[in-house]
This record gives sequence, structure tokens and C-alpha cells, in this order.
Amino acid sequence: MKIVIANWKMNMLGREAAAFCEAFKADYTPKAGCEAGIAPPFTLLREVAVHAAGSGVKVFAQNAYFEPKGAFTGEISMGQLKDAGCHGVLLGHSERRHVFGESDENLVKKLKAAWEYELLPVLCIGETLTQRDAGFTLDVLHKQLEVLNATGPGPLVLAYEPVWAIGTGRVAEPMQIEEVHAFIHDELWRLWSDRGLEVPIQYGGSVTPDNFEGILKVPFVAGGLVGGASLDPAKFLKLVGQTQASL
Ligand code: 13P
Repeated sequence: MKIVIANWKMNMLGREAAAFCEAFKADYTPKAGCEAGIAPPFTLLREVAVHAAGSGVKVFAQNAYFEPKGAFTGEISMGQLKDAGCHGVLLGHSERRHVFGESDENLVKKLKAAWEYELLPVLCIGETLTQRDAGFTLDVLHKQLEVLNATGPGPLVLAYEPVWAIGTGRVAEPMQIEEVHAFIHDELWRLWSDRGLEVPIQYGGSVTPDNFEGILKVPFVAGGLVGGASLDPAKFLKLVGQTQASL
């Protein structure tokens, strides 16, 4: 399975989201083996779920808390995401890790909670520029992937997003993506054997319709997690079309 997801981050208001969904739906034709998803901010989840209903587009949240309910002011539970019409949830995005201190320990709990509520988690991993320059890329990814050792297997999408390529316009070179995706593929096999090989591995970081075709040719790249370029329905449609064409 290949999958391309629009991560809107902290962008869009209600009327913009509705206009995006209508424009996207008008030209979107689903294709077997390829999923398209939108990850809007919490306030727009229901809005997007309603507009996307029947189109085949899946709705993802950008984060969630692992506790089912209670005194956790400002947090949202997996059950609440399900209730709002979500299909899945992004977990461990680098902005959550680096700006908000997301820990691997919490990610283990969040993955298990997502599965409990039958949400598809998209686990994001990636190294910083300092870590890459110091030659630690694969060690960092190995450590981030160890959460999957603690959880055991379950439905999952993995997103490799080098932190230095996010929102910078500096996309990773195909050789760099190839090295990392092959490594993640091997790690998934080591961790979950056959179940690991079912996990699609997305690339994310300054993806645009101009560079995505090349990225999709890299072995073990099974789609993308897209920020900036996904705010424009025409660009996102192109990215979905390119993913479908790469099947
Ligand atoms: P950009 O596509 O804006 O670089 O963002 C990538 C990203 O973080 C998607 O989750």
C-alpha cells in the first residue's frame, strides 16, 4: 500500500478547509493500493471528515494523548478522534518531539492507545542536521524505531522526515533517502518480521510536485507526508496522482 498525507500543521480556517475539500473532491479519483489523507488541526477534523465523506479521502489527526479520558486540560483522546471521524493519527512528528518535548516513552503508550481505538498511527522519525553531520543518522533512527520493539506489531505507517528538510526547501538527495529507507525496511523486518514488511514507509520534507516523482522512484518509498505543498488543493492532487502513477 502507498499513502500520501497532507499535514496542514497549524494552518487553515473553516472556510478555507471547506473550499480545499470541495476543490480536491471534484478532481480526486481513488485508486486501489493508494490512500490519500488529510491531517487538519483538531478544530477542523469534523469539518474535513464531513466534507471528505464518501470521497475516499481519509482524515488524520496531528497528535493525541494516550489516556482515554479525564483531567488532562488541553489534550485530546484517541476516542475523541474516532468520534470526530478520524481514520488515523500522526504520532511523534519532529515538531512535537523538538518543540513540545514528545518522548519515545509516551509514543509507546500513544501507539497502543491508537490501536485500541482502531486508529491507524503514522509514526514519524528523523534526524537533525547536527546528528546527520556527526554521522549518527542511522543510530538516531534505530533508537526512535525501538518504540516498535516495546509495542509489538500492529497496523502502522512509518514516515521518515529528516528534520533539516522540513519546511526548508532543502529536500534530501535520492541517495540519502535510499540509504535511510533501506535501513528502515531492514529494521522493520528485524523488529516485526513479516508484519514489518507490510508497513508503508513515507518520505517527508520539502516535497513538491517538482521533486516527488523522483522521490517515489527510490526503493522502499511508499508515499509522502507533505506540509507546505499540501495547503494548495491543486498541488496536493498532483502529489496524489504521482503516487497513484507510481504503483
Ligand atoms: P514540508 O513539506 O513543509 O517540508 O513539511 C514536511 C512535514 O513536516 C510533513 O509532516
